[in-house]
Amino acid sequence: MIETNNLPKHVAIIMDGNGRWAKAKGKNRVFGHRSGTQAVKKIVEKSAEMGIDYLTLYAFSTENWDRPKTEVSSLMDLLIKALRRELDKMLSNNIQLRSIGDISQLPAEVEKELKDTIEKTSKNSGMVLTLALNYGARQELTQAIQEISRKVKNNIISPENVDETIINEHLYTRNLPGVDLLIRTSGEQRISNFLLWQIAYAELYFSTVLWPDFNEEHFRTAIDSYKKRERRFGKTSEQLTN
Ligand code: IPE
Ligand code: IPE
Ligand code: MG
Repeated sequence: MIETNNLPKHVAIIMDGNGRWAKAKGKNRVFGHRSGTQAVKKIVEKSAEMGIDYLTLYAFSTENWDRPKTEVSSLMDLLIKALRRELDKMLSNNIQLRSIGDISQLPAEVEKELKDTIEKTSKNSGMVLTLALNYGARQELTQAIQEISRKVKNNIISPENVDETIINEHLYTRNLPGVDLLIRTSGEQRISNFLLWQIAYAELYFSTVLWPDFNEEHFRTAIDSYKKRERRFGKTSEQLTN
């Protein structure tokens, strides 16, 4: 059922806790990541069904390269497989895939599979699903500042004209609206270099559930929590109700 009242337009999720979930079961971390991809499938389908316009998932950070090599390569492998497996579903659910982050640094095969899937779903007009891959907010802001500096140096933009719109246009998220709701699972209460600029006015929701266990009901609870909040954007409560 599509509901429109007070639904967040853009939901971003820091999918955390795969490793701890596996450890609690006496399994290796990769087992946790594999189960995590099942949770991704559920939440993507639920979001599309609810009528969320934009869902952005933190899948691999610029810092995650520092994990053991075998874990990194398993994550890349899982990503390729998930893209292949889910293409038909994305097409039948009218989901448009996008990515943020420096994907040129991903293994060539991952980059290719990702680009192919993005291309194949590009005509879809339903929910926009964005995967943050080799994404780091500091890296994103750094490359934006470099690009803007180059343009200023070449007299394409004057320094006085550098405003929020110009900055937005140089971020990976240039075609996405600001984040309304940011969810993090696993009980950690930190941002871990995700979407720093874009969450300036997002509502934050922390769940203690580990990502592989995060299901449609947990997601629904997060959305319901969001719906009850009053977003004041600096104004007073009275101003909003009048
Ligand atoms: C999130 O789960 C998945 C990625 C960061 C790729 P973790 O692997 O961080 O799980 P924990 O935090 O170790 O439990
Ligand atoms: C954040 O999770 C990155 C992703 C979910 C992809 P981490 O598990 O890497 O975060 P930290 O390092 O514990 O903050
Ligand atoms: Mg973690």
